[in-house]
Order: sequence, then structure tokens, then C-alpha cells
Amino acid sequence: NNLDTLYRQVIMDHYKHPRNRGKLEEDALVVDMNNPTCGDRIQLQIQVEDGKVKDAKFEGEGCSISMSSASMMTQAIKGKSIEDALRMSQLFSDMMLGKEIDPGNLEMGDVEALQGVAKFPARIKCATLAWKAMEQGVEKN
Ligand code: FES
Ligand code: FES
Repeated sequence: NNLDTLYRQVIMDHYKHPRNRGKLEEDALVVDMNNPTCGDRIQLQIQVEDGKVKDAKFEGEGCSISMSSASMMTQAIKGKSIEDALRMSQLFSDMMLGKEIDPGNLEMGDVEALQGVAKFPARIKCATLAWKAMEQGVEKN
């Protein structure tokens, strides 16, 4: 349907024109993570200041789902408190379980475009890779 088409376009746009791809200059939390089922990998860099995500960038190689998810995730968590970033990660996991999510006042940006992935269990690990890296990164903080 139209919503699926729109979401597919949003995913491809993030894949072809990734937001926040690159390295942070300032000292950042660095997390390397891979998807064991395919070997694709991501390196996420997060800069935290005063309990907030000041900046986030990623590098790596992977499928369109994993790379677009990293692009959407970094966009969504920028400027958010660590608490809110972790809440978003929880909402994303729920979305991957096919649950209806209620972000309330959390601005999730394009992240919801990936909700269709819930129907393809083999791809869920692709979509959650960046979020898992983010969780690990802020835990290190
Ligand atoms: Fe790599 Fe699906 S093809 S995880
Ligand atoms: Fe490897 Fe998607 S196929 S992360």
C-alpha cells in the first residue's frame, strides 16, 4: 500500500544519502559491532555531554536495512537525553516484535519507516544492529 511505498522510499533515501556517516573529531564513545549472521559491521561514535547525546556518527558496511537504520538512529538520538535515547531503543525493539508503539512526545524522526521489517525475522538483526551499538556505547559512559 501507499504507506509501505513511502516507507521504502525513506529507507532507500537514508541508504543512498546516509546522515551522520563519518568519524567524530572530539573524543567519543566508540562501539564496534557486527551482525554474526552475515558479518556486516558498524562502528558507532557517540559524544555525550551533560547526560545528552551531543553528536553521533557511524561508519561500516552492511545491507540497506542496517545502514539506513544507523542513519535514522543517529539522526533520532542527537540532542536527546541518554534516558530518551534508551527509551527509543526499547520502542524500536517493540516495533521489531510487531507491536504498536506509542512514542508520546519523543521525536523519533524517520525511525518508524522500518516497522515493516518486523515481518521479516531474518532482517530484524540488520535493523537493530545500530541500536544495540548505541545501547552498548552509553552503558560504557
Ligand atoms: Fe545478512 Fe540477512 S542477509 S542478516
Ligand atoms: Fe548484514 Fe543486514 S545483511 S546487516
